[in-house]
Amino acid sequence: MSFIVGIDGPAGSGKGTVTKRVANKLGLINIDTGITYRCVALEVLKQGIQLDDTNKIIEIAKNIKIKIDNTPNGDIVFLDDINVTQDIRSKEVTKIVSQVSSIKEVRFLMVDMQRKLAEGKNVIMEGRDICTYVFPNADVKIYLDASIEERAKRRFKENQEKNIDMTYEEVYENIKKRDENDKSKEIGALKVAEDSIVVDTTNLTIDEVVEKIIDIIRIKRK
Ligand code: DC
Repeated sequence: MSFIVGIDGPAGSGKGTVTKRVANKLGLINIDTGITYRCVALEVLKQGIQLDDTNKIIEIAKNIKIKIDNTPNGDIVFLDDINVTQDIRSKEVTKIVSQVSSIKEVRFLMVDMQRKLAEGKNVIMEGRDICTYVFPNADVKIYLDASIEERAKRRFKENQEKNIDMTYEEVYENIKKRDENDKSKEIGALKVAEDSIVVDTTNLTIDEVVEKIIDIIRIKRK
């Protein structure tokens, strides 16, 4: 038996930070599904494949070997045994990842991998389509949101801390484009599941969001 908490929301809504803290506090395994799409996007760049060469991108997704180690300092990501933790967050990957993740067959393959990662475990899984598509029967379903200005501000600050060189305007435009693309996908589009609880984080601190989510999970777990 596994216990599954699904957290969906747009880029910069706080999913990543909040999910890791909740996972640590409640002893859940944290699965960041964006990593799987970012790894495919990184490999597309490494192999110099054009974004319209869908067949080659699907081949990459079929053969990709991803390993994610949850550590107290964050996830360490290996792609074909090479540590790509930093590379998957680069400006170049961030620019193309939403488009790569829009390819239907890529989604089928990654969703399959994500379901396998959660098999028989107690997990908190974050993404865009966890509560609507990957685990529509998740035990707890949450949608995190925030205004686009607040999300861009947060992502800009986070990038600075990680030495990712992007201006605020670049971050804002990237988030806006990704929102549009993520919401209009044929499969796995970003949307609120009917039975998800929406938490607007615009005016909340990270601690307040973490507390809110822990309360929601505790009530459901009883
Ligand atoms: O959460 P993130 O920014 O690392 O996600 C990167 C991209 O991957 C995002 O633009 C949309 C896509 N994604 C998705 O389509 N479905 C998911 N479950 C997770 C991410």
